[in-house]
Amino acid sequence: MAQPPILRPDLDTIVSLAETISRCARQLESSGASVGTPPSPPASPKTQQNIQGTERTELREACDKLLYLAAGPYEHLMATAQSHRVEAALQFAAHFDLASYVPSDGSSIAFSELAAATGLPTLQISRMFRILVVYHIFCEPRLGFVAHNACSRLLLEQHIHATVSYYTDESFRAASCLSETTRKWPGTQERNETALNLAYNTTLPKFEFFNAEPWRAARFRMAMAGMTQGESFSLQHLVQGFDWASLPEGSMVADIGGGGGHVSVALAKAHTKLNFIVQDLKTAFDGNSIPESLSGRISFREHNFFTTQPSSADVFLLRWILHDYPDKFARKILQNTVAAMKPGSRIVVMEGVMQPPGSQSHICERKSRLLDVAMMTLLNSSERDLDAWKSLFYEADPSLKLVKVTTPAASALSVMELQLDV
Ligand SMILES: C[S@@+](CC[C@H](N)C(=O)[O-])C[C@H]1O[C@@H](n2cnc3c(N)ncnc32)[C@H](O)[C@@H]1O
Repeated sequence: MAQPPILRPDLDTIVSLAETISRCARQLESSGASVGTPPSPPASPKTQQNIQGTERTELREACDKLLYLAAGPYEHLMATAQSHRVEAALQFAAHFDLASYVPSDGSSIAFSELAAATGLPTLQISRMFRILVVYHIFCEPRLGFVAHNACSRLLLEQHIHATVSYYTDESFRAASCLSETTRKWPGTQERNETALNLAYNTTLPKFEFFNAEPWRAARFRMAMAGMTQGESFSLQHLVQGFDWASLPEGSMVADIGGGGGHVSVALAKAHTKLNFIVQDLKTAFDGNSIPESLSGRISFREHNFFTTQPSSADVFLLRWILHDYPDKFARKILQNTVAAMKPGSRIVVMEGVMQPPGSQSHICERKSRLLDVAMMTLLNSSERDLDAWKSLFYEADPSLKLVKVTTPAASALSVMELQLDV
């Protein structure tokens, strides 16, 4: 019987990895990229742009493997098993908004002063900060004082703070209930039998639960915008990943499940001849911030995508919607969308397309694996590979044809274009 292929044979040694690191570092330095310590404040976080491109991926991959080999199996396993403690410290910092108490001009503040300002115990504050410091978040420039570094300064940005809060609160707490959930509801695809349901003792599915506590819905919406700040989920990939310029002037894009409208804003800025209707649940419309200059081209409409699509559009955009649902629900969303399509209109789906295990670097593969576990934990859904996407589209409607798949460089998501085959 044929043996399955051996995945990713690991032939690297500490020395060969060190050589790779040295080569990549030299290439990056000669290309003018900053490979040293990120500047400390008051430089703007935007000025410490990460090292870009394939050299960066190769460098990170080699560093990651080298760290693993240097640590050895026992240390690596134990460090991984304890990573929740770092997450807990970050949750603490996000929950009490500690970054906002640290001077943004680069100077430091005493732990005791921070404790007085927040009403938290000094000892607990210092212990939480000190674990973050050894993970490169904040620094302690002199004993008993904390200051921002380039990484902690990101927490001053509202959207990034919301992303970290969401990851370290709902996402983290739900993840700790995953095994218990599997024992209780093995193999379920129900939206309200998830680890999130156990963690929060609720019978509501994720988005209904968030809507019942509008501050969670608002934070999640902001978190979605925060996730687009990095390279992998940048909205530029959507701006460039579909031929928006080919649409006639005045075309309408329905941004289904568009949250606070951040995706439509990015597209509207780049494509000035297009109009947008952002559809989402009611709570999405509280305090949304569309720039004045775009308000004539972007409107909002309350719409539950499990019901009949009420808008006519040239493009129906589903960015990061279908991966939230197991097939039976995702099919329904697509069918409601198909029913509203007119001749020539298209569906644009932007989602991860899982690659076969071992076909990417660990650093790249981790992103889709982490997302996949998040989907399992919070929604009983999953990331899909191309075959799974194709069969979902076919089962939703056999006349729905996937005409193009584009994966922009450095994007963790692909743009899939669908048309009706009439
Ligand atoms: C993962 S977010 C994606 C947001 C945005 N499309 C993006 O790419 O950043 C899912 C969005 O779907 C919305 N949503 C969830 N259930 C919905 C429903 N039944 N009808 C309409 N929108 C819904 C959520 O409020 C949220 O804004």
